Amino acid sequence: MPNKTIILPSASDFHIHLRQDDLMNMAVPQIAEGGISLCYVMPNLKPPITSTKQALDYKDKLEKLEPNVTFLMSLYLNSDLTPEEIRKAKEAGIIGVKSYPRGVTTNSDSGIESYKVYYPVFKAMEEVGMILNLHGEIPSDIEQDICVMNAEEKFLIHLKQLHEDFPRLKIVLEHATTKEAIGMVKSLGDTVGCTITIHHLQLTVDDWAGQCHNFCKPVAKFPHDRQALRDVILEGHPRFFLGTDSAPHPAHLKECAQSCAGVFTTPLALPYLATIFDSFNALHTLKSFACENGKKFYNIKEEKCREIKLINENWLVPNAYQFGNTQKEKSGIVIPFWAGKTLTWKIDS
Ligand code: NCD
Ligand code: DOR
Ligand code: ZN
Ligand code: ZN
Repeated sequence: MPNKTIILPSASDFHIHLRQDDLMNMAVPQIAEGGISLCYVMPNLKPPITSTKQALDYKDKLEKLEPNVTFLMSLYLNSDLTPEEIRKAKEAGIIGVKSYPRGVTTNSDSGIESYKVYYPVFKAMEEVGMILNLHGEIPSDIEQDICVMNAEEKFLIHLKQLHEDFPRLKIVLEHATTKEAIGMVKSLGDTVGCTITIHHLQLTVDDWAGQCHNFCKPVAKFPHDRQALRDVILEGHPRFFLGTDSAPHPAHLKECAQSCAGVFTTPLALPYLATIFDSFNALHTLKSFACENGKKFYNIKEEKCREIKLINENWLVPNAYQFGNTQKEKSGIVIPFWAGKTLTWKIDS
């Protein structure tokens, strides 16, 4: 009997880290390999992307490396971002603004309350129709009993407040990892969406405690949290969609005393997703989750979509991806998610 197949449009990744220099040169050509034709690019470069000009320069580099992928750009929320810059960014086709907890707290001692200093910026974003992307964690605080395990849950009141204060502003809670986050997003209005990564549909705490290649932020939580992510996908909820948070780091920066957070899934995005969806009987929602819901929420018409054929066949995840020129000191390898493991779906090419 021939292998089972699935025909899909190429997918959209609404949260991807593409880095700079040698890592970028390695990661960008892998986007199409993973079955993705549109991605929303995170701005946490060194230095971060804080202006329209920087975003357009970066976009230019990405497009030169890969003309067959649509790159949507974001800015890093910071105190230099003015309502004027927001209008300029919108004119230039920039899609949204990403808020990281550190960026939020830098300008104030009152922690996350400092969202208030950005209210004029959010107002302008609401007016022109830009997206606010939230890294939904509050900083750890021993006195307040806050740590990586409850940092997301404790953040959710801020999401609720922002939505109340800016009901027409489209907000995306990025990389949700908890039952509470899923419940909160579902309880809010149609202007609030949520991305779910590939790895958080698979990992729980036991998988990253002591296993640096599964370590990412926000950390994977309890089995019941993973189940809540799976359940909202099984339900086919239209405001939840793929944002891989694929975040390559050189292997030596993960395999060390203080491991960098990030899991690299770009080269095999759809094969991972199909394999994991199959494992919890969710293949019927793969298309809406990976190819449709995100574009609908962002109101994006895509031009570079193609057809992808997935076949039900076992194959192995590569052990590593090389970056840089091996003659150079800065070269190295990135270890992908599930290195050396067997996937049950592959892209027919
Ligand atoms: C940094 C990271 O993700 O830690 N990038 C990188 O390692 N190439 C980005 C950042 O810290 O802003
Ligand atoms: O795991 C993560 N890696 N989480 C983030 O929020 C950032 C990302 C990165 O850039 O490495
Ligand atoms: Zn994030
Ligand atoms: Zn991220």
